[in-house]
Amino acid sequence: MESNKNFKILVTGGAGFIGSHVVRRFVTSYPDYSIVNLDKLTYAGNLENLRDIEKMPNYQFIKGDITNMTFVNALFKEHEFDAVIHLAAESHVDRSIQDPLSFVTTNVVGTVNILNAALATWKDHFENKLFYHISTDEVYGSLGESGYFTESTSYDPKSPYSASKAGSDHFVRSYENTYALPVVITNCSNNYGPYQFPEKLLPLMIHNIRNNKPLPVYGTGENIRDWLFVKDHADAIDLVFHSGKKGETYNIGGFNEWKNIDIVRLLCRIMDDKLHRQPGTSEKLIEFVKDRPGHDQRYAIDAAKISSELGWKPSVTFEQGLEITVDWYLENIAWLDHVTSGAYKTYYDSQYRNR
Ligand code: NAD
Ligand code: DAU
Repeated sequence: MESNKNFKILVTGGAGFIGSHVVRRFVTSYPDYSIVNLDKLTYAGNLENLRDIEKMPNYQFIKGDITNMTFVNALFKEHEFDAVIHLAAESHVDRSIQDPLSFVTTNVVGTVNILNAALATWKDHFENKLFYHISTDEVYGSLGESGYFTESTSYDPKSPYSASKAGSDHFVRSYENTYALPVVITNCSNNYGPYQFPEKLLPLMIHNIRNNKPLPVYGTGENIRDWLFVKDHADAIDLVFHSGKKGETYNIGGFNEWKNIDIVRLLCRIMDDKLHRQPGTSEKLIEFVKDRPGHDQRYAIDAAKISSELGWKPSVTFEQGLEITVDWYLENIAWLDHVTSGAYKTYYDSQYRNR
């Protein structure tokens, strides 16, 4: 997409964790673009994530549900978007194990609704139009001790969440093949950073360490994830949006593999220091609990393609990113307290009660 146009871009899921960083990035970097954030504001969506930019003249928030076809079609008719960056999804693996169908509804049906509306709006006039689908490395399944996910790795999703994301990826790809819809897909590894909902590993552990609560490590803690700072993901999305080749897939990863238990111990050490606790205090909170069913062993992205073709690489080291993240959570206790009141408690009890 040439960046000299006055694009009107629909960002779905822009009130969530990654979406809010993407919205902020586009609103502040491209004053001539108009950014419309469509979000249902589920438990994971929070307008507090965007307080700093909500009054910018090139930004508009619309509350709505991507699974509502009539609403989505009317929205596209009214706005005639040039491009879509599609992030709205149910995103947490443990919730997908509790309630798979809601993942099919949001991630598959919701994506097809947005695809249909884009297709109907653009009506074969695809020049300078783009459907950008944000996906995950989990669609590739689970790795053993060696190897990496590349763009040509076969899909082998193993949880209801990853199966629903794989389904949505296949629909996006099928609209390119069948209708020539201009699409691009990126598959990213585990993100961390400010504004992540504390159901995910890092903010959950930060929250529990601060409150001297048990730190529930699934199984033996040997599972491995490849961690990327969320702002580096937003940078990559900006780059792919403007310079990526239509029809391509790009894998995005942190070149940064960690065993869960090692990352939790590292967090404990950092937070003991920041909270002026005796070294070793927080580690005593670690509890090994019943494993996640079907727990993927290892994810690791080979990000060579986006690096060599588009020149992307992470801008912060893991040490820097983690420091920024922990500081942010400690400085934004009101945000954390707010999102962990109410429905969070019910979820937490049902997820961890009998482990
Ligand atoms: P998130 O759960 O923090 O945010 C999802 C957002 O989507 C929320 O604001 C929610 O309100 C909104 N939403 C959910 N259902 C909706 C609906 N029916 N209609 C409109 N809005 C709806 O998720 P995230 O971690 O920011 O992930 C964003 C995207 O990136 C997802 O597609 C996810 O699969 C993908 N992804 C996430 C990661 C990660 O590590 N978090 C890594 C790779 C890819
Ligand atoms: O890889 C990208 C994916 O990363 C995204 O597509 C998902 O949206 C995102 O949720 C994330 O999935 P994971 O399942 O890897 O993330 P989560 O933070 O839930 O868990 C990370 C690891 O930590 C995983 O091996 C499970 C483990 N874990 C998690 C929680 C919440 C624990 O040991 N204890 C916990 O309490």
